[in-house]
Amino acid sequence: MEWKRRECLAALGSMAAMTVVPVQARTQDLQVLEKPIPSTGEMIPAVGLGSWITFNVGDDAELKEECAAVMQTFFSSGGKLIDSSPMYGSAQATIGYGVKKLAPETIFSADKVWISDAASGPGQIARSLDAWGIQAFSLLQVHNLLTWQEHLATLLDMKAKGQVKYVGITTSEGRRHSELEKIMAAQPIDFIQVSYNVLDREVESRILPLAAERGIAVIVNRPFRQGDLIDDLEGEALPDWISDTGATNWAQLLLRFTISHPAVTCAIPATSNPGHVRENMAAATGSFMTPELRRRTIEYVESL
Ligand SMILES: NC(=O)c1ccc[n+]([C@@H]2O[C@H](COP(=O)([O-])OP(=O)(O)OC[C@H]3O[C@@H](n4cnc5c(N)ncnc54)[C@H](OP(=O)(O)O)[C@@H]3O)[C@@H](O)[C@H]2O)c1
Repeated sequence: MEWKRRECLAALGSMAAMTVVPVQARTQDLQVLEKPIPSTGEMIPAVGLGSWITFNVGDDAELKEECAAVMQTFFSSGGKLIDSSPMYGSAQATIGYGVKKLAPETIFSADKVWISDAASGPGQIARSLDAWGIQAFSLLQVHNLLTWQEHLATLLDMKAKGQVKYVGITTSEGRRHSELEKIMAAQPIDFIQVSYNVLDREVESRILPLAAERGIAVIVNRPFRQGDLIDDLEGEALPDWISDTGATNWAQLLLRFTISHPAVTCAIPATSNPGHVRENMAAATGSFMTPELRRRTIEYVESL
């Protein structure tokens, strides 16, 4: 469920005494590209924000402010979907700090359940809600297929009761794809989350076509291979047809490649740098790359 400003404020509960600093009106008038969630038709921006490592800053006040600045830039650039997990240390609480400080107009909250003991799933979800400081998540995903049968039953039950809008399941770096395929074929899930980038394209053969066929939204994690792809490419010349792609640098080309796959709903790069947020959100403007430009991007990167 997409949280409206008043719902966020209500969700913050006993906050009468709190100083709410509203997110400034969008700093740049970017028309962020959106894609539909197939199960409802709801549109979401094609670039979201990850939180693994970057938002695991503990109680360090300065680092928490830096993360809030990342969130401020994200929201003011038209971003909505933030992804986290109880696996990410203090990341959920850092997001909660930013939500409380910024009171964003809309947020698409994507979190996960990640615990071996199925009976502990609901308690973990309650703690996650508390950390974010909201009343309900937009999307709950079973993290890395862990205890998936039991957790999926819990999440689908929550969905039936209106306690969460969307249900999904995640994996990364190509792990357990054949099992994921079986789940996609048999279970009424709204989302999957997988790794996909110009060099890691395993999902193209079966997972992405199946998602399109079954009407399942796709969130892409690791669009930059955890930053390694950008580090490896930044010393290389950009292709001389870069202006045709709508990108101005490697990060944007990589991101635009990923979100331009028709079956991909959004990518969720993580960053601790507001300038990178602006660049990443700007990658979701203009029009999507054509299949021909995507093919040339693969060939070019593979030739380096
Ligand atoms: N199984 C799962 O459910 C699963 C697994 C993996 C990841 N995830 C989710 O997916 C998110 C993204 O994956 P990830 O964090 O592993 O890796 P990633 O997004 O591929 O890469 C993150 C790295 O890219 C750098 N970066 C971001 N934007 C940049 C830009 N414009 N220019 C240069 N560098 C840039 C960041 O450094 P700076 O801080 O310097 O910008 C950061 O080190 C995670 O945070 C998490 O939310 C889920």
